[in-house]
Amino acid sequence: MASRIIPVDTFDLVIFGGTGDLARRKILPSLLRRFRAGQMPPGARIIACARAALDDAGYRDLAARSIAEFGGAEREDADLVAAFLDRLHYIAVDVTGDGGWAELAAIMRPDVVRAFYFSVRPELFGPIAERLHLRDIAEDESRIVVEKPFGRDLASAQGLNASLAAHFEERQIYRIDHYLGKETVQNLMAVRFANMLFEPLWNNHYIDHIQITVAETVGVAGRGNYYDGTGAIRDMVQNHLMQLLCLTAMEPPAQFEADMVRDEKLKVIRALRPVAPEDIVLGQYAAGADPSYRDDVANPESSTESFVALRCTIGTWRWAGVPFYLRTGKRMKARSSEITVVFQQLGHRIFGEDLASHRNVLSIRLQPNDGIDLRVTVKERGPGGMRLVDMPLDLTFADMEADQGEAGVDAYERLIMDVIRGDQTLFMRGDEVEAAWAWTDPIVAICAGHDRIPQFYEQGSNGPDDALMLLHREGRRWREIKG
Ligand SMILES: NC(=O)c1ccc[n+]([C@@H]2O[C@H](COP(=O)([O-])OP(=O)(O)OC[C@H]3O[C@@H](n4cnc5c(N)ncnc54)[C@H](OP(=O)(O)O)[C@@H]3O)[C@@H](O)[C@H]2O)c1
Repeated sequence: MASRIIPVDTFDLVIFGGTGDLARRKILPSLLRRFRAGQMPPGARIIACARAALDDAGYRDLAARSIAEFGGAEREDADLVAAFLDRLHYIAVDVTGDGGWAELAAIMRPDVVRAFYFSVRPELFGPIAERLHLRDIAEDESRIVVEKPFGRDLASAQGLNASLAAHFEERQIYRIDHYLGKETVQNLMAVRFANMLFEPLWNNHYIDHIQITVAETVGVAGRGNYYDGTGAIRDMVQNHLMQLLCLTAMEPPAQFEADMVRDEKLKVIRALRPVAPEDIVLGQYAAGADPSYRDDVANPESSTESFVALRCTIGTWRWAGVPFYLRTGKRMKARSSEITVVFQQLGHRIFGEDLASHRNVLSIRLQPNDGIDLRVTVKERGPGGMRLVDMPLDLTFADMEADQGEAGVDAYERLIMDVIRGDQTLFMRGDEVEAAWAWTDPIVAICAGHDRIPQFYEQGSNGPDDALMLLHREGRRWREIKG
């Protein structure tokens, strides 16, 4: 299969926080893979900034070690890695002070794309934006990239947005939610909007309910301090699950263009009804093979949720009466992210009443083995009458990509190249983030109530029993969490 690499313009990508965990674990290995794919033009450079006193050689050493630790198979190609390292530069900058900015200004080139990745804690977003502007390092066409968490409530998100908007226009701001960079998330849009088959059925006449699950097997050890002050609702629901819900529920945009897509997502968030207290289940993993949540965060009294399940509804013509069940948790049975669309039962059955359990189910798997499968009811092969059986029509994209030589393009690879290309479609707009917090804040407030103690759940389970009841009480059941 011929390469489908879309070339990008020559760029200077500045990474503030270039020595940090995210840069070492994700950004550098992703850039190396794009380099290997031939997508980095000959003159493209990466300029890392942090306070540590390093020079180019020192930073290249650090980058080489990061690639050795976190890179994929391409790290074995010594010539490739060496050529990539040559593209790296380092300037010591304290983003809250004056040191290093003149050197950064001096190294930037005219007539190339300038992108600034703020891979630092959010309190530093404002100071960096201000200095880039005041020192004329950012130009009218420059882009800035900011990471999650984008605020911890509506007020703080508004504060962050204001600190960026003081110096940059919205068209220059790229807020990363790496879930949006996942292959299957984009495929969800393709399946919905490029096929005749699904869109006519994509409404409350044909869909019974929708489930969105993001289950992790890891706990919170290592980031306990951050997590215990945050919890699953802020850490996962407000951003990742909300984005998946938007893409599942949005109206077709007039065109696949950044603001048109984001306008439609925003309408979904604004149409979300407040969630009732009885529709929220909180959980916390108990001790098992690994330490308990409370041990992991070193807080024996913690009432922060490591699991949440919610039932929510969208007040629109299309979705009236269709529940959306969201759940996410740590130390669960398997690592799995999936959107499941459960269609209604047939109105009339010609094969007998015992066949009532057959329903079409469309599942969109983000991980592992990303792909889409549609369960359809067919006749079981062989003699013996008309016995029906559910079979999957399975489209596993991982296999397809391997055939096309683009196996496992990481979300960060795609998103960073979208920044250079100037395509904001897969990034959250400021009003979207604020609307998401406006919906999430009351849920967090309900959960902060004194009577809302998370239920303990077993490690390696599906979460607390009450989460099962959330569906059982309505005659539904969660889809099995499978790795
Ligand atoms: N790590 C992840 O997997 C991950 C995932 C999603 C989102 N994020 C987000 O990404 C951002 C970065 O996370 P991280 O895990 O990489 O953090 P980290 O490991 O603590 O790294 C922070 C970086 O910022 C630099 N820095 C701190 N203060 C500075 C200052 N005053 N001036 C210049 N540089 C400064 C640090 O270098 P010096 O101390 O040498 O200055 C370091 O390079 C955070 O917002 C985080 O929430 C991280």
